[in-house]
Amino acid sequence: MTAAARIVVLPGDGIGPEVTDAARRVLDAAAVRAGLKLDYVVDLVGGASVDAHGVALRPQTLRLCKTADAILFGAVGGPKWDDAAPQSNLRPGSALLGLRKGLGLFANLRPVRVDPAMVATSALRPERVRDVDLLVVRELTGGLYFSKPKRRYETPRGQAAVDTMRYSTPEIERVAVRAFELARQRRRRLCSVDKANILETSRLWRIVVTAVAERYPDVATSHMLVDAFAMELLRRPQAFDVVLTENLFGDILTDEASMLAGALGMLPSASLGGGTLGLYEPIHGSAPDIAGKGIANPIGAILSAALLLRWSLNAETAAAAVEHAVSFVLASGLRTADIARDGEAPVGTAAIAEAVVSALG
Ligand code: IPM
Ligand code: MG
Repeated sequence: MTAAARIVVLPGDGIGPEVTDAARRVLDAAAVRAGLKLDYVVDLVGGASVDAHGVALRPQTLRLCKTADAILFGAVGGPKWDDAAPQSNLRPGSALLGLRKGLGLFANLRPVRVDPAMVATSALRPERVRDVDLLVVRELTGGLYFSKPKRRYETPRGQAAVDTMRYSTPEIERVAVRAFELARQRRRRLCSVDKANILETSRLWRIVVTAVAERYPDVATSHMLVDAFAMELLRRPQAFDVVLTENLFGDILTDEASMLAGALGMLPSASLGGGTLGLYEPIHGSAPDIAGKGIANPIGAILSAALLLRWSLNAETAAAAVEHAVSFVLASGLRTADIARDGEAPVGTAAIAEAVVSALG
């Protein structure tokens, strides 16, 4: 047997630990079936790390992640820390940003598939969301999130603040290449989303993406302004295959896209860099209001575990088996509270995980 894969588990805050636990149970079951051996190391991040160690992300946690094959991440944040934190390294969200930047995870893959069993639960009419299967590739280590200057300062007329949106050609090119490669494995359509009518960064973005597109003549490429795309995403979501966009646009558009799939709790994500190391997390946050109750939807986390199998462990069969098991469980009618419709009795987080494990056979 080959060496065990090293998985760093970072449950974080709020519902993070509950959904990560569920994902880990499914991952374990899938690994056993696939003959994969997994070694887990668990560490604190976010508010949990602030409480225990005084910072949201310790340097040793980042180092640990650098030696891993993959990272299974829950969620970070909560009112206890978000409101109070005076320094940025005390804010739980800084742990996530520190990991993304520190590990060079520049491409965030957010697949949005509307499961047939979820068509009726979607915020949109069934005919609008049936067969939706798109993949948002969000740039993750540049743009407004990271560029300098970024600060608040005093002026004679009160405080002012600045954030900076900066992109360089190599930063755009590497994420574009990743998106085009993914389009080749899918339906060979790519829509790049920008704000080139206003933003200089977007004009560069469009130039670079257009140049990369020339290397992929087999992929049908289009460009759309972000405001128009936000509308088209609701009007004709089936038209899209791969959607490539910068950091902040991708953040906003993927929350919007989650409404196609029925709920924020359904969507997984993978953050990748140049190699196979990846960080896998549901796109939902820590949901402090329902934390500790055992009612959170673990499907986004479980599907993130499937992406971990696919992208970091090169275990496509196991990844697809997890995705099929989730579909099977949804088809069988099991629902957590966030996706239960009138008259459907919701089940808890653990019940969904158990059902997925038994569907794996
Ligand atoms: C996400 C989240 C994060 C982001 C926050 C928690 C920093 O919203 O992963 O979409 O804005 O990237
Ligand atoms: Mg977000």
